[in-house]
Amino acid sequence: MTDDLLHRDASTFFHQHGSSPCLATLRAAGGIWLEDVDGRRFVDLHGNTAHHLGHRHPEIVAALKDQLDRLAFSPRRFTNEPAVLLGEKLLTHWPGAPAKVLFATGGSDAIEIALKLARVATGRHETISLEGSYHGHGFGSFGLSQAEPDARLGPFLPGRHHVPPYWIGEDGTTRMLEDIARIFAQSPGIAAVIAEPLRSNCHVPPAMLWPEVRRLCDAHGAKLIFDEIPSGLGKTGRFFAFEHFGAVPDAVVIGKALGGGMLPIAAVIADARLNVAPELELGHYTHEKNPLTTRVALTTVQLIERDGLVERAAEVGRRLIAGVEAIARTTPLIVKARGLGLLLAVEFDPHVWGMAPGAAFTDRLVEACFAQGLSTTSKGPVSVGLSLPLIVTDDEANDVLARLGRAF
Ligand SMILES: Cc1ncc(COP(=O)(O)O)c(C=O)c1O
Repeated sequence: MTDDLLHRDASTFFHQHGSSPCLATLRAAGGIWLEDVDGRRFVDLHGNTAHHLGHRHPEIVAALKDQLDRLAFSPRRFTNEPAVLLGEKLLTHWPGAPAKVLFATGGSDAIEIALKLARVATGRHETISLEGSYHGHGFGSFGLSQAEPDARLGPFLPGRHHVPPYWIGEDGTTRMLEDIARIFAQSPGIAAVIAEPLRSNCHVPPAMLWPEVRRLCDAHGAKLIFDEIPSGLGKTGRFFAFEHFGAVPDAVVIGKALGGGMLPIAAVIADARLNVAPELELGHYTHEKNPLTTRVALTTVQLIERDGLVERAAEVGRRLIAGVEAIARTTPLIVKARGLGLLLAVEFDPHVWGMAPGAAFTDRLVEACFAQGLSTTSKGPVSVGLSLPLIVTDDEANDVLARLGRAF
């Protein structure tokens, strides 16, 4: 059965890096678990970081069914209760000056809305972003991730400046800040700096980084946009990841888990002073205020609040880091866990297996995890992800640590 569907998948879909070939065929997912058609079960340590509530959360399923029976679509120019309630709810979490929101069906589109807001508010169009980041696959958003995407794809947006990211090398933070300062000094046309405050490879930046970037943006009249598509909504132990770092952006983009791990929805929350171009279409999408996606998102935020999942992420994350440290004391291959809350990665020492850092090493790590019923992905040249849902129980977290110990 698995082989048949894998084969048909490979012949049906265009092949692309990161999506093909598929590993297995799923038939069910619930809580922290995935189950393939052959009945093998895996703890989902990846979940595309959309699984804050785990899979198929019963209250999300119930809300969705209820909404299907009430109002399932809302054409443009009509509003509806779930959309307004979601917008209002998200704004209650915003710690800055008065703000407004817009919704999109995916993170990439929402990033581009944030870029448009920054462009119209500043009258400039250039950007500074981190080389090797990821902001989605639109021609606008993907061009932020890399200075030179494959030449066969043709030109991306003009005016993109890329700086070394804080997570590369001992002097990454210094090089990043020096480059940002240099670009600001040379280019008066910068509309925005855009970055993940905590990159989803789980390298935690030093405390001074984002306040300094905030200061540089203010000094040069540019906007600061934080991409919290994987890290927002409590994943790091704060509702917004930027709340760890002492810098409030002009706009934050959230997505992924906002759809309850089921539906596609993302949001831009931005300073209301960016509301300067009502005559333009900024993110005028067919499903912008879809009552199903917005109801699911509203229920997701309500559950995160009701069940104290932000605090829970912080607490379980601390215990997992300590648990990995304990395993590392008797397992030379494992170095440590890094990250915040439940946005974690485990770091390994490739020399113990006589290997070099890189894809061959992390592929072997991922295989060893898979054999112990842990589904994960590479997080850089020596690490794999340890991203558990926020609904994970203590017993489940202990079970994951035991499986990790057995895998290595
Ligand atoms: C940091 C970051 N930004 C943007 C995106 C794009 O989101 P989407 O796939 O919903 O377009 C992703 C998706 O993985 C992401 O991790």
